[in-house]
Formats: sequence, C-alpha cells, structure tokens
Amino acid sequence: MSRSLPPPPLKIGPLVIDPPILQAPMAGYTNAAYREIVRQYGGAGLLATEMVNARGFVWLDEHECEHPDRLWGVADEARPLAVQIWDNDPHTMAKVGKRLAEEYRVSVVDINFGCPVKQVTEKAHSGSYLLREPNRMYAIISQLVEACSPTPVTAKIRLGCSRDSINCNEIAHVVEEAGAAALTVHGRTAQDFFRGNADWEKISEIKSHLRSIPLIGNGDLDSAEKVVAAFETYDVDGVMIARASLGRPWLFSQAAAAIRGEPIPPEPDLDAQRECMLKHYQLVVNRFGPDKGTMLMRKFACCYAQGKHGARHFRTYVAGVSTPDEFMEVVERYFPTSAESRRSESRRSESSPSESPDVARAVAALPE
Ligand SMILES: Cc1cc2nc3c(=O)[nH]c(=O)nc-3n(C[C@H](O)[C@H](O)[C@H](O)COP(=O)(O)O)c2cc1C
Repeated sequence: MSRSLPPPPLKIGPLVIDPPILQAPMAGYTNAAYREIVRQYGGAGLLATEMVNARGFVWLDEHECEHPDRLWGVADEARPLAVQIWDNDPHTMAKVGKRLAEEYRVSVVDINFGCPVKQVTEKAHSGSYLLREPNRMYAIISQLVEACSPTPVTAKIRLGCSRDSINCNEIAHVVEEAGAAALTVHGRTAQDFFRGNADWEKISEIKSHLRSIPLIGNGDLDSAEKVVAAFETYDVDGVMIARASLGRPWLFSQAAAAIRGEPIPPEPDLDAQRECMLKHYQLVVNRFGPDKGTMLMRKFACCYAQGKHGARHFRTYVAGVSTPDEFMEVVERYFPTSAESRRSESRRSESSPSESPDVARAVAALPE
C-alpha cells in the first residue's frame, strides 16, 4: 500500500488533531515539564499524561488528599491534552473520567489496556490483562463514554496478551462498539514487553475491523523518515511516538515537517540540546524542589545524552548527583558540547582513540 502525504488531520470525536502525530503516555516521564518542552518545539498534535490509577485517585479524594502528582499541570496547561487512566472497575473508571472531563476539562480521556507490568496485570488485573476480558473492556469503555460525554474517550491496547492469543481485531470491534472515539495500538503483545519489533502489518490489518473511528499506530518510530514510511505504508490515521522522544523532544516537529513534505529540520546542536535539558531541569525543580527535582532529573538527563559522544561518562556521573550544584557540575564537565563533538569528530578522522584523555582520566578515577 502506498498512500499520499500529507495525511489528513485526525478526528477524535469533536477534536481535530493536526498533525496526526501523538505523544505517547509514559509513566515516570511524560509529566508537565516534559510536555512543556515538547510543546515548545511543536509538531505533536495531541499530548498525553502518564497513566493515572483511577482507584488511587478516588482514594485520595475520599481522604481529602491532594489529587495525584501525575495530574500536575493538567488543569492549567495548553490543550489538546489527553489524560490516561487505568483500573478494571467500570464504576471507578467512570467516576474518575467524569471528574477529569468536568473539573479538569481535559480534551480526551484515554484508557490503558496495554500496560504489561506485573503490578498492573497480575496484581490489579488491569492494563493488558483486560485484553482477555472483552466484556469487561466493553463495560469500562461504555460507562466511561457515558460519564465523560461530550469529552471523547479513547483506548490504547497491545496486539494481545501473548503471541498465541493475538486478538486485536476482535478487541478493536469491542472498543468501537462500546463508543470509544479512537483506538491506539502498540504493535507488540504484552508477553513481548519491548522485545522484537513492533508488528505494523498487524496494526494495519485492524483498520478493516473498524467502522469509522481512527486507528493510531505505535511502536519503534524513532525518526521522521520512519513516521513518513508508516503513513505511506500502513493503513493508519495517526501515529504515536514514545521512547524516541525522550531526550529528543524536537522529533515531533521533524516528523510533522516530513509528513508535510518539507525539509526535515536538523537536530538542534549540542549546545541547544543542553539548554533544552537545563530548561527541563528548571521546570522539574520548580515543581519538586531542588533535591527531589535533581533526583528525578537524573533519568531525563541520561535520555538527553543518549547516543552522543561521551554519553556513558555523563550517565555514570549524573546517576550519582543529588543536589543542584552537583548536577550543574556534572553537566558542565561531562554533557557533550558542540565544540567537544567537533573536536572528537576531527580526532576520529585522524584515527585517534575513541575517548578523550579527560574522559579516560575520569573513568580511571571512578570508585570501584
Ligand atoms: C518508560 C515507559 C513508560 C510507559 N508508560 C506508559 C503508560 O503510562 N501508558 C501507556 O499506555 N503506555 C506506556 N508506555 C508504552 C508507550 O506508550 C509505547 O506504547 C511504547 O513505548 C511503544 O512505543 P515506542 O516504540 O515509540 O516507544 C510506556 C513506555 C515506556 C518506555
């Protein structure tokens, strides 16, 4: 199949998502700070929170506690914004969905039917566990749709629980009949976790099992070129990007330009990437305070360095920081810079060793 570009905007109920490129929910990562950085570069038609446990939300509410940390920013930030929730009880899900729709006025309430993590599947019989219980999925979706109306409700699934029980075509039908406004499919089974490649043929097949709601494909899109190929090759109305955007929040804008047939904007140079990471850090610290913010930023900082010359050393050091001073010192010393990268390029072309002497010294000085 070869389809022409650009793809039309995506319609999720009354919402128009343009471009049809979505930022995936990622627990522990896609908080308000990350979303603000993504918005700064543009290119993502719909952003999403981390998954929020509906039962936990209700408990906090009943005990007059603050709402979940994962709803940080949600009430005030730009739209469109999807909030993803999970649980296996239709009533609880509907109760929380209604609050999100009416009080938080979110653009979309998304349901997690894809999480393969044991605490969610085996312990709570939720997430991807529910793919084996289409009737319960139907009850959850239909009650949520009624409670949230007119805010659209969407579902995110995997291909099935295991390779032997791929049932995404049947599930797609259930999702649509229950009233969901869109379906997102991560092209792996829960058993696959993140192993192997996402199966885009299987994602594409689902389209013929849907009457009218849009299908959003997800899995392994890590470049603008792959996003173009996904739209050209597979029968999807939208695509969703997760891991590759961590530390590369400009990827959405590159993909958006590419599907419009425009030149792909270059990666920001390393100094600009460093500035971006520091802005991200500031947002996290503003929310969580200097010490907790610094601890939380370690993993994001590693993402920003990933794939760059010297990333391993930066990661090693940043993993041990616990104060802003330590963080800034490690960034100053070890986050790759444009000048360093140019120097290392020229050293490489003179066939010199792959690591700079500075880094080699630092590694030698590492505690056992
Ligand atoms: C750290 C991490 C956290 C995730 N958390 C969620 C989540 O909260 N809800 C969800 O539906 N999927 C979650 N996912 C799955 C992603 O949304 C996405 O489906 C998956 O990573 C495949 O897309 P990718 O190849 O672009 O990364 C998570 C993935 C990762 C790596």
